[in-house]
Amino acid sequence: MDINELVAEIANSRKYASVSREVIERACVEASKKYKKKKEVLSESKKQLHIIYESFLTKNCQSVARKKIEEYSGEDMANDKSFSKELLALHVSTKERLDSVDEMYNFISQYITQECVLSDVGCGFNPLALPFFGNKPARYLAYEISQETVDLINLYFDRIGVVNYRAELLDAVNNFPTECSDVLLAFKLLPLLQQQKKGRAIEFLANTSFEKAIVSFPIKSMSGRNKGMESFYSSFIESNLPTDISIVERKVINNELFYVLKK
Ligand SMILES: C[S@@+](CC[C@H](N)C(=O)[O-])C[C@H]1O[C@@H](n2cnc3c(N)ncnc32)[C@H](O)[C@@H]1O
Repeated sequence: MDINELVAEIANSRKYASVSREVIERACVEASKKYKKKKEVLSESKKQLHIIYESFLTKNCQSVARKKIEEYSGEDMANDKSFSKELLALHVSTKERLDSVDEMYNFISQYITQECVLSDVGCGFNPLALPFFGNKPARYLAYEISQETVDLINLYFDRIGVVNYRAELLDAVNNFPTECSDVLLAFKLLPLLQQQKKGRAIEFLANTSFEKAIVSFPIKSMSGRNKGMESFYSSFIESNLPTDISIVERKVINNELFYVLKK
């Protein structure tokens, strides 16, 4: 089976056109190990891309957010919490936090200083929550697998007039952020890395350079059912952490379990 042909077919589809080719290719290679027929491999690859990426998007969310940012008529986008909430509501992951948005960003803000280099891997729309950050970091490096999301975040950074903030494409299954972070954010990302490559969640933490990391896990499924996820993810992280990483704090906020880690 010609993997390049499958990759091209998925990359030409409207849904996955903006996803990094590296990620599409991996989905196709993995699917081709399970199935023999082209139709089955295509369907399995798209299913995986749906789980790791598309299921978090609301309809046309990147273009809707882009239009809102371009047409913003307020005075101070960088501190406009109600505008930020409108944008956060467009992505399933940040929408899930809206009920506890102040509590959550107050919690993470304790660890983010004005001098710090902040990396946000698998960022989704999280950088658009900047108005809720107690301190704006000196540098913000946001990473995603979708070029459309990367372009959106860069547009936002540009419009709020920050220097040293940028978004880039990064597949965290095969790569690490190149710069050392004072604080690394990996919100609701580690289960998806595990889904794409067994063992990758811990390998990612072990080999990424950071002083502190704030990682989180969903403790309710997207359908709203609680399936023992809190105890599952607690024991996953607590029993697999490399010896040079310790737990600073553990906290549950609404439907999300947070760990602050230190290297
Ligand atoms: C559950 S969402 C969380 C988004 C954001 N961190 C938040 O909590 O609001 C997971 C995000 O990880 C991204 N993602 C999935 N696989 C990835 C990978 N291999 N490398 C980097 N990001 C990935 C998805 O595109 C998605 O935006």
